[in-house]
Amino acid sequence: MKRFILGVIIGLFIPAVIGYCYVRFGFAPIATSAQPMPFEEKAAKMIMRAHMTKEMPKNVPMQPTEDNLTQGANIYSSNCSFCHGVPDQPATLAAKGMFPLPPQLFNKDEMVTDDPVGRTYWTVKNGLRMTGMPGFGEMLSENQLWQVSLLLSQADKLPPATKAALTKPQPTTSSTTPSTTPAVTPKPSTAAHHHHDHDHD
Ligand code: HEC
Repeated sequence: MKRFILGVIIGLFIPAVIGYCYVRFGFAPIATSAQPMPFEEKAAKMIMRAHMTKEMPKNVPMQPTEDNLTQGANIYSSNCSFCHGVPDQPATLAAKGMFPLPPQLFNKDEMVTDDPVGRTYWTVKNGLRMTGMPGFGEMLSENQLWQVSLLLSQADKLPPATKAALTKPQPTTSSTTPSTTPAVTPKPSTAAHHHHDHDHD
């Protein structure tokens, strides 16, 4: 019995020491360009998915009408395309220097058209800690969050007007000319609020 307990203690102790040394002596990657840690990507994905599946809303409170999709496209080109790109164009510079890389959401292989819309909504609202993906819950209204999420869920079958709104030239960030599309449209007050929206914060 004594031996067994000793075995357990050593068995727990050795991996702990190795783990500590790995981090303490600077082997854990910090640069965005560094190789990922063993299992880093798998573990991160698993943790994220499990958490979102628990918290994401199951009901989508609006339809993917052309109007909603085009509104979503305007929100996207002001707030998201810098990292996530637009249809038929090469990835942006930001999309090359981050870790993890921002998925190019209009690229066939990286779009989130198979994900539940509620999961995309959760991601856009709350952001993803330590990835560079901002949470937009403070900047966008409920309606806007759903519109941009619907846009991404339909990324492979957008009506032409929506696609046009996505690819129209963007005002530069330090624009001196007055821009017609403010970077973030102010939250519309109560009027646009759906009463069946549930907020789980
Ligand atoms: C500063 C860069 C940046 C901006 C701006 C940004 N994102 Fe992201 N986003 C990221 C990164 C990086 C990830 C990848 C996180 C990961 O791989 O874990 C991500 C992930 C996502 C995902 C999850 C994709 C998947 O495969 O599960 C969605 C959806 C998303 N972003 C939507 C948006 C929307 C919508 C906006 C604008 C309202 C936006 N992002 C703005 C960097 C950004």
